[in-house]
Amino acid sequence: MDALDSPLFTVPKLNSLAKSDIAIEVNDLALYFGQRKVLHEISMRIPKNKVTAIIGPSGCGKSTLIGCFNRLNDLHQDCRIEGQVIIGERNIFHHKQNVPELRTKVGMVFQRPNPFPVSVYENVVYGLRIKGISDRRLLDNVVENALIKAALWDEVKDNLFDSALLLSTGQQQRLVIARALALEPEILILDEPTSALDPISTLLIEELINDLRSQFTVIIVTHNLQQAARVSDYTAFLHQGELIEYSDTDTIFTLPAQQQTEAYITGRYG
Ligand SMILES: Nc1ncnc2c1ncn2[C@@H]1O[C@H](COP(=O)(O)OP(=O)(O)O)[C@@H](O)[C@H]1O
Ligand SMILES: [Mg+2]
Repeated sequence: MDALDSPLFTVPKLNSLAKSDIAIEVNDLALYFGQRKVLHEISMRIPKNKVTAIIGPSGCGKSTLIGCFNRLNDLHQDCRIEGQVIIGERNIFHHKQNVPELRTKVGMVFQRPNPFPVSVYENVVYGLRIKGISDRRLLDNVVENALIKAALWDEVKDNLFDSALLLSTGQQQRLVIARALALEPEILILDEPTSALDPISTLLIEELINDLRSQFTVIIVTHNLQQAARVSDYTAFLHQGELIEYSDTDTIFTLPAQQQTEAYITGRYG
């Protein structure tokens, strides 16, 4: 039996997705750091133009899982991966995969905002400059559009050439999102993007995620369950490297099929 057809994943919407509606197809993905198995045969289909949340206790493998989606784990020498992650037509672990191109297609934003110590403007165009793009009109356009999408434009439009380090932490996180959007990714992955932020900045980022869904596939890792419930269409619950349950968000939070999911969402552990 195909792992994706097992009873745990009988979410008709996810299982019957047409290929063209799948952003990421994960097949029997296992990951080891040295001898230690951190991900256990994970299979899931992440739909296009939806927000998928990944929840689970600290250390359960959330960051490791999403790190597979743009091959960040390649950076660790003792890391071994089995199984497939298909984005587009191809298994991204194929030796012919162009990794910089993959990382353009799959943008990643981390918990701590990491703006570069240059101006707001130069932060946004950073990736384009690396690609050799220097046309001023084009760059100006990208900066404006990316900052509008990231809900930061109004706050910075008069100070584009000031250092990004002068921005508040919440603004810096939106700037980092703008920097990712400037590369026109297909998939945007946010790894606990608001856990270092105050409630107002958190709300702004959540509204932003809501707006992005029409244009991008968004994956958000969060240990804030209310946040997952507020922003996502689908939710995957990971525990000790295993995908326990993956379903539409309403089902996960109101009628989970697995007892472990219920225990986690009702706060009995984690
Ligand atoms: N580079 C690494 N080398 C060895 N172990 C790691 C490495 N990165 C993460 N781990 C381990 O893998 C497990 C999953 O970590 P992680 O994916 O960061 O969890 P989460 O994001 O859910 O908190 C943890 O036990 C962590 O200690
Ligand atoms: Mg993590």
